[in-house]
Amino acid sequence: MADNAKLQVAGKDVEFPVRSGTIGPDVVDIRKLYAQTGAFTYDPGFTSTASCDSALTYIDGDEGVLLHRGYPIGQLAEESSFMEVAYLLLNGELPSGEELGNFTTTISRHTMLHEQLATFYRGFRRDAHPMAIMCGVVGALSAFYHDSTDITDPTQRTIASHRLIAKMPTIAAMAYKYSVGQPFQYPDNSLSYTGNFLKMTFGVPAEPYEVNPVVEKALDRIFILHADHEQNASTSTVRLAGSSGANPFACMAAGIACLWGPAHGGANEAALNMLREIGTPERIPEYIARAKNKDDPFRLMGFGHRVYKNYDPRATVMQKTVREVFESLGVNDPVFETALRLEELALSDDYFIEKKLFPNVDFYSGVILSAIGFPTTMFTALFALARTVGWVAQWNEMISDPEQKIGRPRQLYTGPAQRDYVPVGQR
Ligand code: ACO
Repeated sequence: MADNAKLQVAGKDVEFPVRSGTIGPDVVDIRKLYAQTGAFTYDPGFTSTASCDSALTYIDGDEGVLLHRGYPIGQLAEESSFMEVAYLLLNGELPSGEELGNFTTTISRHTMLHEQLATFYRGFRRDAHPMAIMCGVVGALSAFYHDSTDITDPTQRTIASHRLIAKMPTIAAMAYKYSVGQPFQYPDNSLSYTGNFLKMTFGVPAEPYEVNPVVEKALDRIFILHADHEQNASTSTVRLAGSSGANPFACMAAGIACLWGPAHGGANEAALNMLREIGTPERIPEYIARAKNKDDPFRLMGFGHRVYKNYDPRATVMQKTVREVFESLGVNDPVFETALRLEELALSDDYFIEKKLFPNVDFYSGVILSAIGFPTTMFTALFALARTVGWVAQWNEMISDPEQKIGRPRQLYTGPAQRDYVPVGQR
């Protein structure tokens, strides 16, 4: 244990315990600050605030390290499967062969949606964004699965967790099918989690659907890379929503809403749109100049990260996967060349070097998803599908934490001080 932290506030000396984790920065436990000094801390964007204890995921942004339960993301992406990572995040250890088999079977038994939910989809416009549908349908699950909304019951929490992980591919695939006017496809539990999702998305009843193993592997890897990322904005949203005791389906809908933003999960869609708009490598300098111009709100999408001040380790795996998918599908999309060149030019530019702006996971994921055949509007829905595992694991961790309380930040009030009401005729 490190020494106490000493602070002087308004002439008063106070001391706070410093707590150490297994790795990573210590934290100053300032829970008694307000009681002892009457002052709050001020940290918009939580850049220096640890909001909870967590044993799931560790990130060292300076070194470009990402560990799930201690295992490096590169090893998990290369050697494991999304189901294995899901088990790991939920249970803390890698599963034995038997445990993995049982877990995979359990998940596959929950892939179907209540039939009435199909009617629910028909209330949306055909051109609705899949994330709008995901927010609505995932929130609506709490109206369909009443028997797993009691958060005080560990069995119900487990069932809700399995349901969410299992049903998310069905929900996302149906959102896609609805937008293109094709019939919904029922899940095929003889396939892998990811193979089943591909079939529900791209299969049609008129002909058999063959899962391409390279595409299946690539998509499974994308899911692994997006499974969890400690206390990011959407995960913090899930925790905050859950801290009031809200049911897990409602909490996941809140997470999806947060993920949709272009500064977070919406970045993969925005990054590919940007690469397509740039079009050819010759136009890259123009866009780099815009990104550097303080008067232009444009940013290089897929670049920069709140935590990584080094190459995002997920982007490295992603770049390699692009080549594999392109080769297998015989795709020759110039957008990949544009992406590689943009990365090269940006990383040799002083602005990006000084601000430590590197490609993040979303810079290349859109290129792969597009090659597989997903429209850009589906990209964030795929991210939500994968991140559900992290959200569920973090939500479970929070509910089981004896120190958990409702999340209730304070503020620095800058409005008018108390004043008397003036009747309208006298104003
Ligand atoms: N292009 C150009 N300049 C940038 C970029 C970018 N992509 N990202 C950050 N900067 C600049 C900022 O203008 C700021 O400059 P200043 O210090 O002169 O004001 C500096 O770098 C620091 O940026 P902040 O926005 O303060 O960094 P923050 O940690 O708050 O933001 C964020 C991180 C939101 C990811 C940001 O880098 C960004 O908007 N990137 C583009 C969107 C994106 O790719 N998001 C995906 C994130 S990964 C994920 O969600 C899975």
